[in-house]
Amino acid sequence: MSQDRTPAAAPVDAALEAKIDRLHAFVDEIAKRHPNIKLASSLAAEDMVLTHAILSRALPIGIFSLNTGRLHAETLGMIDRVRERYGYEIAQFHPQADAVDEYVNTQGLNAFYDSVELRKRCCEIRKVEPLNRALAGVDAWVTGQRREQSVTRTELHEEERDATRNVAKYNPLADWTEGEIWAYIKIYDVPVNPLHARGYPSIGCEPCTRAVRPGEDSRAGRWWWESRDSKECGLHVTTIQFAAGSASATASA
Ligand code: ADX
Ligand code: SF4
Repeated sequence: MSQDRTPAAAPVDAALEAKIDRLHAFVDEIAKRHPNIKLASSLAAEDMVLTHAILSRALPIGIFSLNTGRLHAETLGMIDRVRERYGYEIAQFHPQADAVDEYVNTQGLNAFYDSVELRKRCCEIRKVEPLNRALAGVDAWVTGQRREQSVTRTELHEEERDATRNVAKYNPLADWTEGEIWAYIKIYDVPVNPLHARGYPSIGCEPCTRAVRPGEDSRAGRWWWESRDSKECGLHVTTIQFAAGSASATASA
């Protein structure tokens, strides 16, 4: 049997308990603030923490996932695990079939390996366009992004303005560490994608994600053939970060 590579959990101490209380209060607050707010879930660990925070406390925040058509079976299996555990059906948004056909027929099924441009085009068709449909009519959305995850996320704030859609965007886990995520998962016995235990700290589409080697950074397995600063899929572009008292525009892809 292969080794369990589930990331280590942080110790459960007063600081962690306070952080959890703060997370729950924050999620309660944004649910109250916005009548139509949704969580974008990749079905990976961070999004399962938020899913638990929402569903175990019956908050009116909808949850959807972008089913790109290239996800691992284990990732899709999380939709069943959420249904079994919480009795909730995560909404799935699929890419438009004619756009996928056109890309595959003209560029090839796996053309994303050929250039950053073709990779971004595939993400545009399979993720960004469905995201736009998923977010039509919302006043706010929520993500599981964390600062620690990437050089493109070091400036991430809990509250942002999504300037493309002119809606609020929240990253309640912005200042959480990987260890804190896994401590939360352990405390509440949150269901998680079995790929995490097989060395996948970050999980995207199957052909664009590999396990990381011990000591590699958590996103080393995402689009591993590209340079670190191009590794975003376009879901998180053009946001305005609200730092204490100031705002600055950033484009992350
Ligand atoms: S990505 O931009 O590189 O793909 P990452 O996997 O780190 O993103 O996930 C960051 C956040 O983007 C997730 O916490 C989630 O909110 C959103 N996200 C990523 N992939 C999906 C997906 N397939 N469906 C819905 N939301 C997603
Ligand atoms: Fe396409 Fe890979 Fe982007 Fe998935 S992650 S949409 S397969 S390029």
